Amino acid sequence: MDKAQAKLQIDELTASLKEHNYRYYVLSEPTITDLEFDRLLKQLEYLESQFPELAHADSPTRVVGGGVLNEFQTVKHRRRMLSLGNTYNEKELREFDGRIQKAIGGETEYVCELKIDGLAISLFYEDGKLIQAVTRGDGVQGDDVTANVRTIRSLNAELHGNFPAEFEIRGEIFMHRKGFEKLNRDRIFAGETAYANPRNVASGSLKLKDSAEVAKRPLDITLYHVLGDNLSYKTHAECIEAAQSWGLKTADTTEVCRGIDEVLQFLEKWDKKRHDLGFDTDGVVIKVNSLAQQEELGYTAKVPRWAIAYKFQTESATTRLLDITYQVGRTGAITPVAELEPVFIMGTTVKRASLHNANEIERLDVRVGDMVFVEKGGEIIPKITGVDFSQRSESSRPTQYINHCPECGTALVRKEGEAQHYCPNEDGCAPQVIGKIEHFVARKAMNIDSIGSEMAKTLYQQALVKDISDLYTLNIEDLLNLERMGEKSARNIIDGIQQSKNVPFERVLFGMGIRHIGETVAKKLAQALGNIDTLMTADKETLVGIDEIGEVIADSLVSYFSEPEHRQLVERLKAAGLQMQSQQKEQIQTGTSLSGFTFVISGVFSSMSRDEAKELIESNGGKCSGSVSSKTDYLLAGEGMGPAKLEKATQLGVKIITEEELMNMLGETPAAKISTEPNKPAQTTLF
Ligand code: IVH
Repeated sequence: MDKAQAKLQIDELTASLKEHNYRYYVLSEPTITDLEFDRLLKQLEYLESQFPELAHADSPTRVVGGGVLNEFQTVKHRRRMLSLGNTYNEKELREFDGRIQKAIGGETEYVCELKIDGLAISLFYEDGKLIQAVTRGDGVQGDDVTANVRTIRSLNAELHGNFPAEFEIRGEIFMHRKGFEKLNRDRIFAGETAYANPRNVASGSLKLKDSAEVAKRPLDITLYHVLGDNLSYKTHAECIEAAQSWGLKTADTTEVCRGIDEVLQFLEKWDKKRHDLGFDTDGVVIKVNSLAQQEELGYTAKVPRWAIAYKFQTESATTRLLDITYQVGRTGAITPVAELEPVFIMGTTVKRASLHNANEIERLDVRVGDMVFVEKGGEIIPKITGVDFSQRSESSRPTQYINHCPECGTALVRKEGEAQHYCPNEDGCAPQVIGKIEHFVARKAMNIDSIGSEMAKTLYQQALVKDISDLYTLNIEDLLNLERMGEKSARNIIDGIQQSKNVPFERVLFGMGIRHIGETVAKKLAQALGNIDTLMTADKETLVGIDEIGEVIADSLVSYFSEPEHRQLVERLKAAGLQMQSQQKEQIQTGTSLSGFTFVISGVFSSMSRDEAKELIESNGGKCSGSVSSKTDYLLAGEGMGPAKLEKATQLGVKIITEEELMNMLGETPAAKISTEPNKPAQTTLF
């Protein structure tokens, strides 16, 4: 292909991919499948690699992030980013309306917008292109986070339609609760501590130095304030409508209300409905619609007179902090817990709340004996939002954070840049060892379901199991000596342990509970290195060379295997007969016919277990996912499949196939293709 042809194709592909990104992320109305999108993207990637000089600066191949920033530039806002006044009840809101009516001489029209709990951002567009994104900062100046903001999928970096040559638009960056929960699940599985709430993660994400990392965070944006010189719009609603027509994402919940009574109806409606939204809102912003009236009303030193926030009541209560206790997690992370005088909030009695870490205790300046405000918002874990200082006793002293482990007495450590304290005694601290045993026997690891949390604890306390390798030296007599242990249960436990010897290497590796080694990472490592010996001797450079393995994971592995006790543990596990070699290596990529397709498996199959179906798909280049989404290409349906999955698949137009059809896609007969564990009967687990 010559350069002129390449240019033509690159230009076309770039434009078309941008359009599809817009349809997918902004309109939520994709017109091509994800597979087709990926094909176009790959084609563009290829052409750009051949003719790098022809690649557009904002090419869709680049906006998924890349480039590490050393520090963020501080930028002065062209127009100050003000905050909003708050109201908490109808009376205060009517007073606000009274002030407006007095100033403009009569009733006015308002726009009501949900107040999303995220972080404010100011964007600059020139000739329809995003040129700068700045955080609110102190309102006068903020950080230039343009590279990170460009990774937000729902933000159009290039506009269409009749946009002004230059304008600023402000909005809120936030994270949906589902994305937040998934992020936390992944973190917990990797042995890291959970984030406190979606807002903190959204804000922390924007401050990450590597935009490729930001791209992995499911951030979203809503824009709500257009600013510029000589704009031709007469009302705020017109501005928002215009922004939408340029391809920018605005809220679809916004309403124009005639007079304060309609505003109150809006508030009442959303006070109930906000819990179904999937993201956190803490109130409603009420704005005078007419821009001329806004100008007339003007600003106080801090806030606009033409807008106000109405805050929803979160159910809260005041109670006494009886004590601060400290929990030690599986990875040694210390979590301070507020022990409260029981208090009834939103239908439940609250006795405990997480205080997260030492920074949070310091920020709240919370002390034992204080009366504290406890809130139960959308989150399940209640939180302490503040201290009633007026009730503090004179003799109270600031909380001294512990410096030794409450369980084993070891001096705690706190790594630079981390909020959490850790107990480093990972092999001798009871909750850490018990936690490791629990993790090892979990379904996704060794799947020894005859051992639950209580049994793990008992085995450790009775000195029968001091580390996970001791499970394999247990015998029936040991167990029968335990209180209330019958022959049948003891046999189940021993059988479960024996069966776990067939569990594939990647799950053994995950089960070992090495910090930062979650399920996916363990799989990657097992595939890339094949066996435990190669992994144990791999240096940092080798490890970071593996797909998806970063420095943090590599450091964690090198440090783990540098301990002689850990190497000895591995030897004991090997001697016990556990799988320390990947079967996957020989199995993977036996074909590529499913490459680029994502499957969801549901139900029971006659010729294979669900795990085998998954292996079969993956070994032929396909991907498997747990839930049906617009990214799903095929739903592999077995007998008794989940009705919710079927409904979702039908709704989204996902193709539903049988196991025979899968085999046809592979050009195989069922029996010929299943090579794994031929002696094992097909499992019949249902969802
Ligand atoms: S308007 C001068 N509209 O709330 C206008 N703010 O408490 C100021 N916020 O800093 C902002 N949703 O981060 C506005 N629809 C909305 C909003 C909104 C959330 C945030 C924003 C602001 C804070 C003020």
